[in-house]
This record gives sequence, structure tokens and C-alpha cells, in this order.
Amino acid sequence: MSRPLITVFGATGAQGGGLVRALLGAPAGGARAFRVRAVTRRPDSAAARVLSDLGAEICAADLDDAASVQRAMNGAHGAFCVTSYWEHRSPARELAQADAMARAAQRAGVRHVVWSTLEDTRRFAEPDGRTMPVLQDRYNVPHFDAKGQADQCFTGRGLPLTRLLTSPAWDHLLHRALPPRRAADGRLEFVLPMGEVPLPGIAAADIGACAAALFHQGEAAIGRRIGIAGEHLDAAQMAAALAQALGEPVRAVALHPAEGGALAIPDAAELANMFRFLHDFHDEVLALRDVRATRALHPGLQDFASWLAAQAAHLPIEAPAFSRPLPPGGSAAATGPAA
Ligand SMILES: NC(=O)c1ccc[n+]([C@@H]2O[C@H](COP(=O)([O-])OP(=O)(O)OC[C@H]3O[C@@H](n4cnc5c(N)ncnc54)[C@H](OP(=O)(O)O)[C@@H]3O)[C@@H](O)[C@H]2O)c1
Repeated sequence: MSRPLITVFGATGAQGGGLVRALLGAPAGGARAFRVRAVTRRPDSAAARVLSDLGAEICAADLDDAASVQRAMNGAHGAFCVTSYWEHRSPARELAQADAMARAAQRAGVRHVVWSTLEDTRRFAEPDGRTMPVLQDRYNVPHFDAKGQADQCFTGRGLPLTRLLTSPAWDHLLHRALPPRRAADGRLEFVLPMGEVPLPGIAAADIGACAAALFHQGEAAIGRRIGIAGEHLDAAQMAAALAQALGEPVRAVALHPAEGGALAIPDAAELANMFRFLHDFHDEVLALRDVRATRALHPGLQDFASWLAAQAAHLPIEAPAFSRPLPPGGSAAATGPAA
């Protein structure tokens, strides 16, 4: 009998790519448990060829084309469903894409769906502008809220579902959103708009490995809502780890999240609201993303220092972070090895 098939959406991306590698990588002591169907809009791309070389079946489909999503689902035992908010920044489109995957999974009789979701932050704070600015008319954090809302597409159909809630990926945070900056005084600094509160983070490559573990668990994972994190660290702890990896002192700038919108970074308003949510509701956010439980799921889980050890040489160092002077809410402290 042939091995059960897992359809992986977003297979050329960070989450799906990690999952394909985890499912098709060298098994610990035996044969691979699953076959993999890697979904992409560009089956001729270099990224698709890499997945094909790993042994994945390449499937051309577009989340905006329901018929192609159905073809990708047909015959699958399991499906990893992920949407790519940052490609279009439209909650409505993200919801429609999730609905297309849920509908197709139901029609295909898929036995295990792992849906990469996040909290609908509107369950924690009304989107009325009192906690944080309202974005796109009705959202606090559109890329969180739309995914949380889209849970209903899957649960409403009674699908055998595992909801996977990841943490901000260090890859995204350190390479794109908030890389270390060379301040005007020549010192390195790391700005984190989380006040003194720890941020849950994870290596992007570990997200897919956790998803793979959930498919291996099968029945035991169905019906569960699982948060994952590699470590919970505040600004000072992250700056200390950066200093260790970069070999020079790094000043921690623990900006209050209300001031995050002042950062001169892309998508500052949305990211400021995200940090506001992660800060204000950190008890629930961190409790859901338990590091020990994540390591039990994926024993190879990296902590920040081990992720940094491989990344430090490639981290971008940016010019000063602020579009205006450090506000009174921000605190700064130098940390790191003796200069
Ligand atoms: N970065 C973080 O820190 C973080 C943390 C938590 C959650 N997230 C969420 O993760 C999601 C992104 O996941 P990722 O980081 O794995 O993405 P990614 O690396 O940017 O890759 C995006 C993937 O989505 C596929 N894709 C995009 N639009 C598609 C469409 N219309 N039809 C079919 N496939 C499509 C792309 O495939 P092709 O281009 O090959 O077609 C690609 O494989 C976002 O929604 C984000 O909100 C990110």
C-alpha cells in the first residue's frame, strides 16, 4: 500500500518548505511515513525544482483559483494550509483563500488538516481605536485577525483540524523588520517595541518541523490548538544574545509598543499593533506558545542563540531606527561583552 499523501500549500515558502523538508528528510530509523504534494503557482521555478529533487510531487495551483485548490486536495490524506498575507495585505482575500482550502479539504475527505493560524485579536480588544489604532476599517492586526476569523472556515465544516499558531520568526524580525542598527554614536542597538515584556520567537525552519510532528501524531493532534515558540525573550535578552553572536556590545532599546508606529520600517502601523497585542496580552500569548511543549513536539528546536550562531554573519546592520527621537516611553541599556 502506498504511503499517505500530504498536500502542502506554501511549499516554496518558509513554513511549507520547512514542512516538506521535515517530511522528506532522512527519517530517524526507517522509511518515510508520507508522500508529499508540494503546491506552487510556479511549478517551473528553482524553488519547485529543489522540492522535486527532495522527492515531492509538484502541483500547480493558485489559492485564488478554487478548481486548482480542489485538484491539489484530491487524494490527500492530510493538508497543510497556510495563506500569505504579506503578498497582498488583504484580509478579505486571506479569508477567501482559507475558505477555498477548507471547502476543498471537505470535498476531498481529507483526514487531517493542519491550519497555520493566529489569534483574532478582536477577541481580546474591541477594534474601536481605544487599545490601538483601527486598521483597514475593522481590524486591530489584520494578518492575525483574518487568520483567526478564518478558523471558522475549517471548524464550521467539522474538518479534522489542528490549529497551529506560530510565533514571530526571528528570520523575519532580524533580517527584515527590526535588524540591529548602528546608532548615531556608532554603537549597535536592537530596538524591540515590547516594553520589558518577552517576545515569543522561533526559527522559521522549525515551524515546518513542528507541523510535520503534528502529521506524525495524527489522531492525537486533531482538535487541538497548538502554539509554538523557540524561546521567550525580552529586548535586553535578545540584545545580549546579539552581542554575543556579533562580538560587540549591543544596546537594548525597549520601546513601549504604543511608540512602535514611530519606527521607520515597512508596515510600521500593522507591526506596531501586533507588538501591542503581544505586549498587552502576553500572559495568554506566552502560555499558548510553551517552549517546553514545542521542544517535546520537535526535539531539534533551536533557541535564539543557536539560531543566531548560524545567522550572525548574514544579519543586515541598518542605519538609525527612528524617524524621530527616542520617545519618553523607550528605555535604553547597553548590554554585551566588554568593549
Ligand atoms: N514571518 C513571520 O514571522 C510569521 C509569523 C507568524 C505567521 N506568519 C504568517 O505566515 C504567512 C506566510 O508564510 P511563510 O512565511 O511560509 O510565507 P513565505 O515564505 O512568504 O511564502 C509564501 C508561500 O505562499 C505561496 N503562495 C502565496 N500566494 C499564493 C497563492 N495565491 N496560491 C498558491 N500559493 C501561494 C507561495 O508559493 P508560490 O510563490 O511558489 O506560488 C509561497 O510558497 C503569512 O500569512 C504570515 O502572516 C508569519
